[in-house]
Amino acid sequence: MPTKDNVRIAPAEGKLGVLIPGIGAVSTTFMAGVEAVKRGLGKPIGSLTQMATIRLGKRTEGRSPYIKDFVPLAKLDDLVFGGWDIFEDTAYEAAVKAGVLERGLLDQVKEPLSSLKPMKAVFDHEYVKRINGPNVKQGANLMEKAEMLMADIESFRRNTGVSRLITIWCGSTEVFHRPSAVHQTLASFEEGLRKNDPEIAPSQVYAYAALKCGVPFANGAPNLTTDIPALLDLARERQLPLCGKDFKTGQTFMKTLIAPGLKARMLGLQGWYSTNILGNRDGEVLDDPGSFKSKEETKLSVLDHILQPQLYPDLYKDFSHVVRINYYPPRGDAKEGWDNIDIFGWLGYPMQIKINFLCRDSILAAPIVLDLVLFMDLAQRCGMKGIQEWLSFYFKAPMTAPGLYPEHDIFIQLMKLKNTLRWMRGEDLITHLGLEYYD
Ligand SMILES: NC(=O)c1ccc[n+]([C@@H]2O[C@H](COP(=O)([O-])OP(=O)(O)OC[C@H]3O[C@@H](n4cnc5c(N)ncnc54)[C@H](O)[C@@H]3O)[C@@H](O)[C@H]2O)c1
Repeated sequence: MPTKDNVRIAPAEGKLGVLIPGIGAVSTTFMAGVEAVKRGLGKPIGSLTQMATIRLGKRTEGRSPYIKDFVPLAKLDDLVFGGWDIFEDTAYEAAVKAGVLERGLLDQVKEPLSSLKPMKAVFDHEYVKRINGPNVKQGANLMEKAEMLMADIESFRRNTGVSRLITIWCGSTEVFHRPSAVHQTLASFEEGLRKNDPEIAPSQVYAYAALKCGVPFANGAPNLTTDIPALLDLARERQLPLCGKDFKTGQTFMKTLIAPGLKARMLGLQGWYSTNILGNRDGEVLDDPGSFKSKEETKLSVLDHILQPQLYPDLYKDFSHVVRINYYPPRGDAKEGWDNIDIFGWLGYPMQIKINFLCRDSILAAPIVLDLVLFMDLAQRCGMKGIQEWLSFYFKAPMTAPGLYPEHDIFIQLMKLKNTLRWMRGEDLITHLGLEYYD
């Protein structure tokens, strides 16, 4: 592959440890899927790192290598999994209970999944109200619990012999909360850990422990977690990448496909009503108004940023946007979403679009977890630190530098991701200008 490094990329040597708070539907579908792909039992559909190509140079050059051949990524064979949960179920038992993958497939990967026994979790029922479990750390204060997590991370590193680690939050959605005084500086945050400050969420204790151990952190849920100055500073100080929040799957994925199209054609929007039924444990947790509020915030922000009503008042001023999630146990992980979109065209004539998406949440989320693990490891080996905006592609509420609005349009996000990879390898960025073909 003719590539010239633009940034120094350390090789992907040795094993890559993946540490996951939350051994539930998403994380077990991800791990079981990796084991299945390794055994040739299925293909990693939905994963850019495994399936996508990247065009290099001019359209006439015919250079489109696979991303995995273009940048040095860890191999699936080199991934080693570990994690924490408030329940004692092994990853195999948790996967059976989640009911996403068929038992026949799970039984073929039973051995590696059964060997993953969740470590004791840092948990606070005030932050996830609908569940309670026995596998929880006891300690005098949050700092002591953070130190226990650090000990877990270091013993995982020693026992598995991994050369690098990534943490990715696949735990339940915590209740909505805003940054407060304790989150402002690392010193105030550490003082808060020692004093058991109720404003510090369990996910923030994990993120703190990971960063202190030199491990990057990705956030798959809408929780505030690393979106606070104290942890952003810690990541930069330790030269570690961060990314989040909330995996972009089902309905929001559809929104970020369709809204840019409507705007591209200057079609107006009067309203967008989205409702879902979902019956897995995630749905049960989201049935609590506090956890739903976290989700609602990330789901609602998308349309405003894409449609920019301040620039296009005739088209998008005051459109109505409603998002509902209904917990309905019979559906399990097989979510069903309905969207009713009221749009208008030429001379204001109204039209409607209806979407009925019968999706499988964890089937859509698993490849995102894989890509984030591999790209965060790549970022780490490139010395990229702090918020990784090029990974916005994967998130409903992408983290951005303070004062910068997030890019939600999935096509802009994809271009940003691929151009970042080109930049890493010293290839020309692709602008799609293309005038040179007509000279
Ligand atoms: N599936 C998707 O498409 C999707 C999309 C976006 C975001 N998410 C988010 O990803 C997360 C995981 O989703 P899921 O469907 O796997 O949910 P799940 O309920 O099946 O799994 C979450 C697991 O986290 C555990 N947990 C809760 N608090 C914990 C803590 N403090 N420490 C350790 N473990 C803890 C729970 O016991 C549970 O086993 C949720 O926050 C969900 O909102 C999922």
